[in-house]
Amino acid sequence: MRGPVQIISFSCFLFSVTFVQGQECFGEDITYENTQPVVNVSYADGETVNVNCMTGYIGFYTLQCKNGQWLTFIARRCSRKKCGHPGETPNGYFKLIEGRDYTFGAMVDYTCKTGYEMTSRINRRHCRIKGWDNSVPVCEEVRCPVIHTDGEVTASGNTKEGTYGDAIHFECVSSDKKLDGNSVIYCTENGVWSGPVPQCIVTCQLELTEPEVIKTIPWGKTVFKAGETVGIICSGKNRVFNKQETFTCTNNGKWDYKPTCEESRCEVPLNQHVYLPKYYFSGDLNLGAKRSCSCESGYRETAAEATCTRDGWTPKPLCTEIMCDPPTIPNAKIVGSQKSNYKIGSRIEYKCRPGFEPEEPVQITCDSQGQWTGTRQCSDGTCQEQELKNIEILFGYPSTALPYKPGHILVFRCTDDNMRFYGQRAIECLPDGRWNYPYPQCGGKVQCSQPTKNLQFVTLSDEKTEYSNFEILTYTCNKPYNEIPRGVLMCQNGKWNETFDCKSKICPPPPYLQNGDYSIDSTKDEVITAVSYTCQSYYVITKQQDVYKCVDGKWETPPKCLRPCEIDDIVEKYNLQLPTEKVYIRHAEKYTLNCRDGWNTGSELKPYVDVSCSNGNLQIDKSCN
Ligand SMILES: *[C@@H]1O[C@H](CO)[C@@H](O)[C@H](O)[C@H]1NC(C)=O
Ligand SMILES: *[C@@H]1O[C@H](CO)[C@@H](O)[C@H](O)[C@H]1NC(C)=O
Repeated sequence: MRGPVQIISFSCFLFSVTFVQGQECFGEDITYENTQPVVNVSYADGETVNVNCMTGYIGFYTLQCKNGQWLTFIARRCSRKKCGHPGETPNGYFKLIEGRDYTFGAMVDYTCKTGYEMTSRINRRHCRIKGWDNSVPVCEEVRCPVIHTDGEVTASGNTKEGTYGDAIHFECVSSDKKLDGNSVIYCTENGVWSGPVPQCIVTCQLELTEPEVIKTIPWGKTVFKAGETVGIICSGKNRVFNKQETFTCTNNGKWDYKPTCEESRCEVPLNQHVYLPKYYFSGDLNLGAKRSCSCESGYRETAAEATCTRDGWTPKPLCTEIMCDPPTIPNAKIVGSQKSNYKIGSRIEYKCRPGFEPEEPVQITCDSQGQWTGTRQCSDGTCQEQELKNIEILFGYPSTALPYKPGHILVFRCTDDNMRFYGQRAIECLPDGRWNYPYPQCGGKVQCSQPTKNLQFVTLSDEKTEYSNFEILTYTCNKPYNEIPRGVLMCQNGKWNETFDCKSKICPPPPYLQNGDYSIDSTKDEVITAVSYTCQSYYVITKQQDVYKCVDGKWETPPKCLRPCEIDDIVEKYNLQLPTEKVYIRHAEKYTLNCRDGWNTGSELKPYVDVSCSNGNLQIDKSCN
């Protein structure tokens, strides 16, 4: 039972009260559906009771108490009160939302047909005690706004009273203009037009008939507004031009120029003497394309790379014929007429001036590199002396004294044994006054300094600071690292060919740490089994590990010592002041350097720059400007 429980006033419900002897009846025994609640009081035998229906229901019951039992006199079942039909609305419909029929408690919702809108505020009706609440909602046709056009465009159709489904057609007044937008718009069910009123504007039509045009950008669009730009891509037998060349629609409906596909002026081959490997042909020859080229033999490239421009490859020509310049031979004269240059293979003759050798004419040839071959000096019969640097004449035949006549022999050696000798040890003066080989040269020291690695485990046969090239150094391994008793090293071009090879039965010597050292942590039978490493001052150790052990005959990987940086005059290149004292900074450390007086870092206007050190490399990110 719904609704608040009501205490029923007895004066209302008790029709008549007749007192008859007999058993009384109880209110709780009256149980009909949809009635007002009955209060549990006692009724005397013979008493009559009326029971009303609950709100919204129609009917009633009349009962009499007879010997403790209720007798039903009249029974009109409680049924829902009817509201009748809720009412149709023109151009709309309704739907029962709650309840099965139009009885008390029912609810209906109204909806307008497409193209109509509800003008009533409430679209819902309820069946209440007094009938349907609210009024039947009203649906009215939607109206689209009045169409306004400018003088350029005409609109036909219901432009003022547009209702759902109405169409408006537009046309341009001037035949020179095109509609920018839809030529037809519709009034939609929501009372808005399906699109804006179009404008008549100047357009350009894209009519590309060029067979080489393979694509326009944007693709597929044919009408363009003034200011819009189109690109074309041309194709055709590797002769493509105007790649994505763009052109623009102007205010008078014309393109700013007629797009065409031209034959590329960048040809393959680039010019007749350029040799292009085959794969170059697969590419296009569009504007902006770049090509590097090789020249066919006998030609030399004047530019390593060329770019395809409207005027063809630039720069050009790319391969020029290799030619020999007129020869310049002291004390000689060209036989015959002289030219400004000579083709490869050209032969000419020259003759030495009187008193110079050779006396007979010499024929020389322009070779494929543009050099004259067969050239000889015109000599007065002696070979020239040359400057001696790091080298000396060991002896001469017949002597070391000048002049060096044909047949004269010189033998050389380096002034320092540890220098490298380049060239021929002995050279001879030829009859034409030339040496048969150029003067030899000496340079570059090839000494070895004493080995530093694991020196404490060996005894050297010869203690020196410098060992000359190819010198052999014998060493004996010290106890207990003398499993192999001795070995030899050789200085080979400044480097020892190997390191000391000494080991014990248990462990090899601890790994050598460059720019660092170790201290012994533990030993076993005089063999070192654990060490700790430290780096030289200013060097930074890479690992913080107290002890490194030798396990099963192998040492744990040692750390490294990272190098410090020295602030040297390189900083002056960055317009920084070189500190007056030597400054070293450790790896990963920062240091602030002042700009030169009056200079700063530009954008930040700081008069200093922070520099840092990375394993010996000074890192300077900024310079002073
Ligand atoms: C109704 O009233 C009678 C008499 O007062 C009592 O015996 C009975 O228990 C009552 N029933 C209820 C449901 O209160
Ligand atoms: C280094 O030179 C010595 C002496 O000639 C030679 O015995 C040894 O085998 C060489 N070592 C290597 C690795 O070539």
